Amino acid sequence: MPTPPKATPTVVSVSLAGYPRNYPIFIGAGLLAQLPDLLKTHVFNNTAVGKLVLVTDETVAGLYLSTIETALKSAEIKVETLIVPAGEMAKTADQLTRIYETCHAFGMTRRDAIVALGGGVVGDLAGYAAATYYRGCQFVQVPTTLLSQVDSSVGGKVAINFKDVKNAIGTFYQPQLVVADTACIETLPERERLAGLAEMIKYALIEQAAVGSTAPLNPETSFLAFYEQLGANWMTQLPTLIARCCQLKAAVVARDEQESAPANDSTGRVCLNLGHTFAHAYESALGYGVLLHGEAVAIGMMQAFWLSERLGLVEKSTSARIQRLLEAVSLFPMALPSIPNAMELVALMRKDKKVLKADSLRFILPQAPIGSLLVHDTVPVADVLAVLDQYHQAI
Ligand code: NAD
Ligand code: GLY
Repeated sequence: MPTPPKATPTVVSVSLAGYPRNYPIFIGAGLLAQLPDLLKTHVFNNTAVGKLVLVTDETVAGLYLSTIETALKSAEIKVETLIVPAGEMAKTADQLTRIYETCHAFGMTRRDAIVALGGGVVGDLAGYAAATYYRGCQFVQVPTTLLSQVDSSVGGKVAINFKDVKNAIGTFYQPQLVVADTACIETLPERERLAGLAEMIKYALIEQAAVGSTAPLNPETSFLAFYEQLGANWMTQLPTLIARCCQLKAAVVARDEQESAPANDSTGRVCLNLGHTFAHAYESALGYGVLLHGEAVAIGMMQAFWLSERLGLVEKSTSARIQRLLEAVSLFPMALPSIPNAMELVALMRKDKKVLKADSLRFILPQAPIGSLLVHDTVPVADVLAVLDQYHQAI
């Protein structure tokens, strides 16, 4: 049988300050088959090929494991696979221990690699294992959800949950290589796809802040204009969209890898949290897992624009523009299974991780020109309540 032509990937480079710690993100359809070559070049540096512990979840294993294992075996790469349950409940100390046990039994050294094949859950869990096994072994991200291809596989945040606190135990640990096969998105359930799209559109709404620029964006070539042209056809341009999101995240992480920029610097890593004060409150009020995170982010971004409109930070026409885009891609109105009590939502916002002073509110808000942001610590509660009401009336 003839060998299929190799996919030509887009490559985004993450360049971090300090000592040379750059890594490539390969993006394109069909890249899983190229994983052995990419590993040899970018992880094993074309010298002796080491071992891999491949961590994946039950769903992803059923879809992609045999393709990858076949490719790795024909390249004579020794691999041991560990399958964890699908979903958030896998981010535990028990599953972490299973990874350490697999590494130990397989005789892994620090030069060998842990490969995360799956969504953000597998990436965060396997990444924390890689950061800590022998004080850090090699780490490769092979993200298979939209959210993980544009967000969680890039930038080095790795963590497990502890008791009722999400990502309570974690660190920053950058991968050596990210391989995002966009063909994987074809098997992703529609709901997960839309949740990923919400995070992707977020990059368009923070574009100026993310590039760290004070100059307004060119309206013709802005990321927002690109989404507006595509509308409901956004899936046709997936590799291009993912690459642009990764470029923006890489720019943010290069400036503020460990989220240590001054608290009010809206170009720091905090800019990735547009809409998240609202989103976290809804996720918590409805019970984790009821809304997907991206669905909550879609709600939160719309509310953030309405809040900015009330505070005079953006024109009404700007929030109407964002609403039209979210409508065009089925992210507005986002149905809620029940409408949480508004005061309860505000109480949850006061407990948000971003809040610096007890009992205050902290929002990352859009301001003019579009794409730039403001970190706001003194939003009147009455305005927040008005925005919540506006949303609850609209759905
Ligand atoms: P996930 O990893 O749970 O994946 C969602 C579901 O899709 C799972 O059931 C999974 O089995 C399935 N799946 C994965 N790939 C598939 C495919 N190609 N086809 C069909 N099904 C597939 O969820 P997620 O949304 O990818 O990630 C959420 C996690 O990411 C959360 O734990 C969150 O805390 C974390 N996160 C981390 C960062 C970071 O910077 N590290 C950023 C954002 C989110
Ligand atoms: N997803 C937020 C961050 O990476 O900082």
